[in-house]
Amino acid sequence: MSKILVTGGAGFIGSHTVVELHQAGHDVVVIDNLSNSNKVSLQRVSKITGKEVPFYQVDIRDRKGLEEVMAVHKFDACIHFAGLKAVGESVAKPWEYYENNISGTLVLLDVLRQHNCKNIIFSSSATVYGDPAQIPITEQCPKGQCTNPYGWTKSMLEQVLMDIQKADPEWNVVLLRYFNPVGAHKSGTIGENPNGIPNNLMPYITQVAVGKRAELGVFGNDYDTPDGTGVRDYIHVVDLARGHVCAIKALERKCGLAIYNLGTGHGYSVLDMVNAFVKVNDVKVPYSIKPRRAGDIATCYSDPAKAEKELGWKAEYGIDEMVRDSWNWQRQNPEGYPEN
Ligand code: NAD
Ligand code: UFG
Repeated sequence: MSKILVTGGAGFIGSHTVVELHQAGHDVVVIDNLSNSNKVSLQRVSKITGKEVPFYQVDIRDRKGLEEVMAVHKFDACIHFAGLKAVGESVAKPWEYYENNISGTLVLLDVLRQHNCKNIIFSSSATVYGDPAQIPITEQCPKGQCTNPYGWTKSMLEQVLMDIQKADPEWNVVLLRYFNPVGAHKSGTIGENPNGIPNNLMPYITQVAVGKRAELGVFGNDYDTPDGTGVRDYIHVVDLARGHVCAIKALERKCGLAIYNLGTGHGYSVLDMVNAFVKVNDVKVPYSIKPRRAGDIATCYSDPAKAEKELGWKAEYGIDEMVRDSWNWQRQNPEGYPEN
């Protein structure tokens, strides 16, 4: 058992990961500035696991705030989710994205090392591969040109972490490159709660299904894919969360630097997702074909073999569970979390 600092733990992936960490016997402390989340998520995590989640409303750019938390708790490892993640917003507000994600991570890393916590798992993204040189994408695939500042923050922070680990081998760094997280905890009590109009496919589908939006726009049907719509590697958020529990074991084994794709290895098109959602949940999802979205690529899916071989981790859930659990959360929480 370890004591783990989870930054951004009130968010979508963070809250699901806290559940899995508790269930694996770890102690967890969450910090989050709540800029894109709600404390209610952590109350619901406690309900699921029966364990309190010590929470501090602290910004990762706030050195004094971080020092105060670390004066009270001694951490074995940090899982670093905190960051801004809206691709379109990052194009409009690049300074805000670089400042929040990069400055924030630099402050966090400095405070961690001063408190001798040199074990970190970082939330990276398949976006670092740019337009991938090969499909399926292995970790050997070269990083590419990102199409937006958000993507660059991930790519640059990977480099920062690699350089820090190289200079000081006491650091153990796991970079997890997530593919497309969807779904929700099976209880339907925690899930994805986007502010405003969703950017991502699954929350858009669920909001159409629940009647909050009239129809889904399918961004392009003239890609070089089986049905012409974009193909992605959707992964159930509970599988993704369990990947972090396995990555903790890699830190315990003193892995140095390790990089893993977290995906299923299966590519589904936009229409595959819509059709599965309609069939499994017996609801209507009207859609119409729209022009391509700027910056989108045709196909992106992982080769997840390295994570299976080295971490013993493999995604268990398929498309039916993904669409079922996304809907179960949205149906029970049509307005997302209540204000706290
Ligand atoms: P999320 O927005 O739900 O969670 C991020 C959390 O970080 C939020 O609770 C937010 O309030 C908090 N936060 C932001 N800036 C902060 C700061 N300066 N100080 C403290 N807290 C701060 O997003 P998510 O989907 O759970 O993503 C978690 C991580 O995974 C992010 O780093 C994201 O970039 C990365 N990621 C997400 C996806 C995806 O599709 N969801 C894909 C790849 C990578
Ligand atoms: N799409 C639509 N309509 C929508 C939203 C999306 O047709 O309303 C399509 C997109 O064109 C794409 C697919 O659905 O073909 C998936 O789009 P998402 O926006 O859900 O996901 P992306 O693959 O574009 O990007 C996501 C995250 C990134 C992350 C990347 C890889 O938003 O931050 O996955 O992990 F980097």
